[in-house]
Amino acid sequence: MTTGAENRISDLIERIRYHNDRYYVDDAPEVPDAEYDELVRELVELEAAHPELVRPDSPTQMVGADPSTLFTPVEHQVPMMSLDNAFDRGELVAWADRAQRRLATEELGDLVCELKFDGLAVSLRYENGVLVQGATRGNGRVGEDITANILTIKSVPHRLPEGAPRVLEVRGEVYMPLVAFEALNAQQEAEGKPRYANPRNTAAGSLRQKDPATTATRGLSMWCYSVGEVQGGPALNTHSATLEYLDSLNLPVNPETTTVDSLDKAWEFVERSEGMRHDLPYEIDGAVIKVDRLDLQQGLGATSRAPRWAIAYKLPPEERTTKLLDIHVSIGSKGKATPFAVLEPVFVGGSTVAMATLHNEDQVKAKDVRPGDTVVVRKAGDVIPEVLGSVLADRAPDSAEWEFPEVCPCLHQQPLIREEGDAAHYCLYPRCPEQLRGWIEHFAARNALDIEHLGEQRVRLFIDLGFISDVGDIYALPYESIRELEGFGELSVANLTAAVEASKQQSLARLLVGLNIRHLGDTTCELLADAFGSLDQIMEASVEELAEVDGIGPIMAESVHEFFQSEVNREIIEKLRAAGLNFAGHADNVDEEALPQTLEGMTIVVTGGVEGYTRDGVGAAIKARGGKSPSSVSSKTTALVVGENPGTSKLDKAEKLGIPVLDEAQFQRLIETGELP
Ligand code: IVH
Repeated sequence: MTTGAENRISDLIERIRYHNDRYYVDDAPEVPDAEYDELVRELVELEAAHPELVRPDSPTQMVGADPSTLFTPVEHQVPMMSLDNAFDRGELVAWADRAQRRLATEELGDLVCELKFDGLAVSLRYENGVLVQGATRGNGRVGEDITANILTIKSVPHRLPEGAPRVLEVRGEVYMPLVAFEALNAQQEAEGKPRYANPRNTAAGSLRQKDPATTATRGLSMWCYSVGEVQGGPALNTHSATLEYLDSLNLPVNPETTTVDSLDKAWEFVERSEGMRHDLPYEIDGAVIKVDRLDLQQGLGATSRAPRWAIAYKLPPEERTTKLLDIHVSIGSKGKATPFAVLEPVFVGGSTVAMATLHNEDQVKAKDVRPGDTVVVRKAGDVIPEVLGSVLADRAPDSAEWEFPEVCPCLHQQPLIREEGDAAHYCLYPRCPEQLRGWIEHFAARNALDIEHLGEQRVRLFIDLGFISDVGDIYALPYESIRELEGFGELSVANLTAAVEASKQQSLARLLVGLNIRHLGDTTCELLADAFGSLDQIMEASVEELAEVDGIGPIMAESVHEFFQSEVNREIIEKLRAAGLNFAGHADNVDEEALPQTLEGMTIVVTGGVEGYTRDGVGAAIKARGGKSPSSVSSKTTALVVGENPGTSKLDKAEKLGIPVLDEAQFQRLIETGELP
């Protein structure tokens, strides 16, 4: 399901981008506006239904759905060029030799060594010292006007000091400092949203936001490394003097920049940059060596793509070998079983890696990695550790192919099931402790039941202490025992109780989100809540009825049906019902005060069908009048109402405990007057 949406989103993004180029860059649109609008509309809708699939580089994130609000194109008077690459010392030497030969009689002279910042190139235009325009590089000739977003970057001055040139175009790299990236991801996680993959793409996405207020929150920064069009200003003969001049105008120039007098020393800088890589507060992907003298730069000129007076040394993505100790399976909050590599810890890409995801069974097979193998590990996008494959020469002769485990690693050892057309295995046992923590956290999350004061640590603690074994237990926490725990004062217990109580009023849609049903997201939960109006109706709906709802596909319908078929899930639902959660409609509709509170303080259990009420409705009617309506009889029960086709166990128990038993007419009178017969 997700894969289908994901593929369609990629396809749409590609097509929209293509048409953007025809329209904005070539000025020659290939399709009528309406056809273009249709593509954008479909993308917007898909992204709304799958917020987790919204890519930071999606055109909707950059430009909004209306093409007229796209960033305006900016033509670069001096083209923004790229750089040729060198991947080893030999290629660096070859570059210098070529340049030297081209200059025939001259030495290359000093070389400026800079870091190669991993962000995106921009051009800032200052007129009479005032920042008037910021543009992306685009295709080098035409970029996009992102002035409003550039103005939010703190390190970029809006105004240059007195005496700045009439026109000064400054080029540089906008990047996201690592702290800003981490902070953004921490916020994403806190909001239950997916992490951004790497600082560079995130910087690009942040800079192309439609709303500059969003860009302003992203903590972007910039390093300036060259100039474009310049009118007025001092005569400068070298690149290093240009950088010094930019620095004197308060423009951010990177302090690691150095000028050296030989290629050997430039190579030393390159090596140093490799060492520096993981200590810098921003990401680099190499070093750039530039001929310092501007007259020599001019003599060397440029190819259509890149100047001949500069070369980028690209740092390789770091790779290391280590031992694959074992392959384990972790169980996510929805029961998804993900294999991961347990590695002999290895330092790679700036941190120690001891685990790496292997995604799914097919990936393990494709990589042919086996416990005991020596494996190659690297940081994908320099963030997520990845096992590339095994060193086959080092493989032990008796090594065996890894088999996906048949049962869940938890103590219940329920089967792990891989359905047709799905790459993932799942443990479908709702009380699987491996899933439990994730489920409880998901249930309490802001987009679900929003239970403040029930954070990750407390969830872990309550599970460890045996206070919670499913989400229903959240409503039966032993507060007396909790009060005794370290770190729980009166106030924090009161806060927790209040938050748990308040969550009972959350809407049906949120309750559905909390139930953590496979393949359902926030939007699809809302669709179901709107279509059926009560949890009981959803529980009783057939796969066909569920699939009739607009926006609910057959896989989702199947998954919802399957969820409610499970005996354990039904037990959990009954716990939630007994606790008084809102099973019917929206929180806003609950208006208890509107009815006389005739049943205040009473606990009325119902067995069998009561005329004039749905199963859910009778409980709601009791609650709306201030009563409680749990599903089982206990010594606290005020009365048992016996309707059509009653269950015998409740009746037996009520009789044993001497609890009054009411028929439907007596129940009706009780509801109206609050009087027991
Ligand atoms: S100079 C005409 N210097 O690398 C020369 N570029 O791979 C223009 N980059 O598009 C580029 N750090 O976005 C230069 N110190 C640096 C750089 C740098 C990063 C980026 C820039 C360029 C890309 C080429």
